[in-house]
Amino acid sequence: MDRGLTILGIESSCDDTAAAVVRSTGGSLGEILSSEVEGQTALHAAFGGVVPEIAARAHVERLDFCVERALAAAGVGLGDLDAVAATAGPGLIGGVLSGVMLAKGICRTRGLPLIGVNHLAGHALTPRLTNGLEFPYLILLVSGGHCQFLIVYGPDRFERLGGTIDDAPGEAFDKVARLLGLAQPGGPQVEGEALLGDRKRFRLPRPLLDRPGCDLSFSGLKTAVLRARDELVAHQGGITVQDRRDLCAGFQAAVVDVLAEKSRRALEICFAGSAGERAFAVAGGVAANGAIRAALQAVCDQTSVRFTAPPLWLCTDNAAMIAWAGIERFRRGGRDGMDLAARPRWPLDATAAPMIGSGKKGAKA
Ligand code: KG4
Ligand code: ZN
Repeated sequence: MDRGLTILGIESSCDDTAAAVVRSTGGSLGEILSSEVEGQTALHAAFGGVVPEIAARAHVERLDFCVERALAAAGVGLGDLDAVAATAGPGLIGGVLSGVMLAKGICRTRGLPLIGVNHLAGHALTPRLTNGLEFPYLILLVSGGHCQFLIVYGPDRFERLGGTIDDAPGEAFDKVARLLGLAQPGGPQVEGEALLGDRKRFRLPRPLLDRPGCDLSFSGLKTAVLRARDELVAHQGGITVQDRRDLCAGFQAAVVDVLAEKSRRALEICFAGSAGERAFAVAGGVAANGAIRAALQAVCDQTSVRFTAPPLWLCTDNAAMIAWAGIERFRRGGRDGMDLAARPRWPLDATAAPMIGSGKKGAKA
């Protein structure tokens, strides 16, 4: 049991500038005193994706204001902090550097310990903060930049059971939205259209389901939607509103089927022969999708596994998860020096085979 720690978290690895203050209240419990997130969607809108240089400059300009607001909202000063945790990777290097340098500056001037946090560990440890999950548990990270199954044994110990070999699911949702003329981010748009569509009209592939294991692939599925669209255009000169709805429904149904089946396999591997509590969590922006959540919940119901999904504002990128991961590392003695490096790639499971492909955050970790 710790005496309680108050940690400032800083996140700047992609297109969200974020700062938060989290206090541990003992065991795996924590309280989020504040969480500030400044998105950069408007800055990148004209380019159809995140522009690393624009992202880095925006982080440099906004981070200190974000930290100020997080401290004020939490009602604490720098003197009340026990440490500062910053995302040190994986992500866009310019952005990660901005956050790490700010954290170093605060720690050096205030004599505070510095903790470098892996962004993916932040996502993976969030269900402990929100739902008090005990180690070990299985997590599926699904967002615009990540897609992997991880067994979480501890704050620094992860086993990767599989992940995408090309696009992340959020990327696929975004690309499908783009090719059907829907706005970005595409996930919520595609989900909205899918509600009104017929998921059986187009026969779309379920990539990698015919192969054993937990790896996933979404790039071929996206191309299949593109082909179906082009065929419609060739035959009828364009696509109707109903065509678009049916394509969205078919695409989403394929993603749901793949994620459900791969989750079933990952759960089997993770909990084979285990007698303790069996818990499965999902995190990342794609976890907002109602059809995906419902399918994963159903898999858990069938296999007597507890299903949890942190609230959406903690599923997407934020700094509370970084502060929390910092607390988990700090109370087990984790500290970094002024030589802490920003790492564009930083796999959680160093023993797993490296992934190919690149998402909006760069190469998949
Ligand atoms: O976690 P996040 O905010 O940022 C990344 O780390 O990528 O995830 C954003 C991604 C976007 O690709 C967005 O289209 C997707 O999550 N997303 C969704 C939904 N809401 C957001 N995908 C499917 N269905 C949704 N309802
Ligand atoms: Zn993320």
